[in-house]
Amino acid sequence: MPDENPLLKQATLLGGDPDAIREFYENWSEHYDTDLLLSMGYVGPEIAAEALVQHVSDTALILDAGCGTGLVGIELIKRKWDLTIDGIDLTPAMLAQSRSKGAYRKLNLADMAGPLFEIDDDIYDGVVCAGVFTAGHVGPAGIDELIRVAKPGAPIVLTVRDIAWEADGFKDKIETLEQEGKTRVVSVTESPYHTKENIFCQLVVLEVV
Ligand SMILES: C[S@@+](CC[C@H](N)C(=O)[O-])C[C@H]1O[C@@H](n2cnc3c(N)ncnc32)[C@H](O)[C@@H]1O
Repeated sequence: MPDENPLLKQATLLGGDPDAIREFYENWSEHYDTDLLLSMGYVGPEIAAEALVQHVSDTALILDAGCGTGLVGIELIKRKWDLTIDGIDLTPAMLAQSRSKGAYRKLNLADMAGPLFEIDDDIYDGVVCAGVFTAGHVGPAGIDELIRVAKPGAPIVLTVRDIAWEADGFKDKIETLEQEGKTRVVSVTESPYHTKENIFCQLVVLEVV
């Protein structure tokens, strides 16, 4: 197995600082798809989309949180072409790449580390978030807003990278949410994430109560 890609290593060291994250992804946006898909064998969008479509209708309204360049949108549309998908992200250049894919209805700037002011409660039939709950990006508190904007009964699908799962409190957060009666855990599955490197994630499927 090769060592972790230097760009990926750098990404985990951004410390959750929005300016550093934005600058990093602005610089990476143009080559992100090629680097992630071809060099690293990134399958986060595929596994997240596949999990989500098992739990939503053909015409559901979906939020892709931290949509990046739109890889998740493409994977969703491949599986259910009549979904309506909105995307949010912190980085304008990543949103521009998403826009060029043509899979999204609306694409808006938003910081998932805080309140998603632009989005009302109980809007989405399903929420998906791939590649954002990882070291140096958005912490477990970011899940609360995804729950707020999802309808009761809606699925929320998250990938959480191996190094962040326990160390950054995601495992505890998922358990606490269930204890508080906010979400039901449908499944938590360890899954390959970067198939050309020795990197795994937890694929988490929650149902909003
Ligand atoms: C590894 S990429 C994942 C993109 C896409 N979901 C995928 O799977 O390819 C991480 C994305 O999270 C976004 N991001 C990081 N911190 C964020 C925050 N606080 N709020 C919203 N988006 C954020 C970055 O701009 C970047 O587009």
